[in-house]
Amino acid sequence: MRTIKERDREVIWHPYTPMKAWPEAIAIVKGEGVWLTDEDGDRYLDAISSWWVNLHGHAHPYIAQKVSEQVAMLEHCIFAGFTHEPAVRLAERLLEILPGQMQKIFYSDNGSTAVEVAIKMSLQYWKNKGIKKKKLVALQNAYHGDTFGAMAVSGRSVFTEAFTDFLFDVVFIPFPGAEDNGESVAALESVLQQGDVAAFIAEPLVQGSAGMCMYSADVLEAYFSLCKKYNAHIIADEVMTGFGRTGPLFACSQIKTHPDMICLSKGLTGGSMPLGVTACTQDIFDAFYDEDRAKMLYHGHSFTANPTICAAALASLDLLLEDSCADNRNRIIGAHKEFAASIKGHKAIADVRQTGTILAMELKTDNPSYHTGIRDVLYRFFLGKKIIMRPIGNVIYILPPYCISNDELQYIYACIKEFLESAVGN
Ligand SMILES: Cc1ncc(COP(=O)(O)O)c(C=O)c1O
Repeated sequence: MRTIKERDREVIWHPYTPMKAWPEAIAIVKGEGVWLTDEDGDRYLDAISSWWVNLHGHAHPYIAQKVSEQVAMLEHCIFAGFTHEPAVRLAERLLEILPGQMQKIFYSDNGSTAVEVAIKMSLQYWKNKGIKKKKLVALQNAYHGDTFGAMAVSGRSVFTEAFTDFLFDVVFIPFPGAEDNGESVAALESVLQQGDVAAFIAEPLVQGSAGMCMYSADVLEAYFSLCKKYNAHIIADEVMTGFGRTGPLFACSQIKTHPDMICLSKGLTGGSMPLGVTACTQDIFDAFYDEDRAKMLYHGHSFTANPTICAAALASLDLLLEDSCADNRNRIIGAHKEFAASIKGHKAIADVRQTGTILAMELKTDNPSYHTGIRDVLYRFFLGKKIIMRPIGNVIYILPPYCISNDELQYIYACIKEFLESAVGN
């Protein structure tokens, strides 16, 4: 009998995968806790929560039970002109925990669409009000997704290169970095002063795909308060940072000034199913609340607010809001801190940084690009140790499901140390 991975090679085109250089995918047949088991029975420790989505461990029995109950009751129904309990309940519960004055939830399918919706909400808000504000501002090296609007507000990089000519113009301001010198905030202010900025979009505190690049809550507060001062919308892309990754439930919970729109996905369903949310304030919603149908938001997806997926998100929220989940996050934060201190200054390391449960290590290399050779060396090294890591260029990071045990964390740390030692030895 042919294996799954042999059959895969004939019919599947994988995302973000150089198909010629990486001809073989590992076929996973089972998940439990932080472990994924392949068709040969080998187990892999998922140190990156499967592209940053998984919060409570794989195949969580509570989420599985709630999904199974929902799918047997109502699996899907159109969400224009109809509604259902799981979507309403999820919106109510999200609005209770989101920072700021969020009043309405708009559902879509994933992180990119959550961003698309926020961009459309902002641009049409100003149009509906008859105010000429069309400029979008973002941070250099940002990543907001792979659809065209989301690509446009993302930093121009190897990800977007083939499509550059088709992306609308966006003003990018410099990334502040850990030791911010005020340049980034000043750059934002000078764009805002022109008076035509519709929205500023940012990944709060941590730019994920840029290489887990981190900046302070003070800088985030400075950005947001400037946007308020100059009457430009704030779009907080919490697709990666949401649901406890930075410690508190949301990165924006750490500051005083609040966004007008918050984009969510990834951890929203505990990583079990795709769902996007764009939360917004009453003010945003009101700009579309009109007799004139030209003013409504022309956006929706076939699977908008799918009840089965909303049930998964509700189940994940139940788990997230248990005290034990906060305890687990604090335990991970403490363990990361200790480990970071133990490798700080290591000869093979250019930088170690941490925000909440996310720990990133930048390795010294002559060529720190996305496709740097060290990336594949790192990937293969950790795979050999049965750890799933997906280095971003020369940056490795741990972004684990919150149920990871101390022993499992220590195993990852020990393997990282082993790699660092071998790198110095070479
Ligand atoms: C901050 C951020 N925004 C948006 C996205 C896009 O999400 P998705 O891959 O679900 O479309 C990502 C994905 O990594 C992300 O990290």
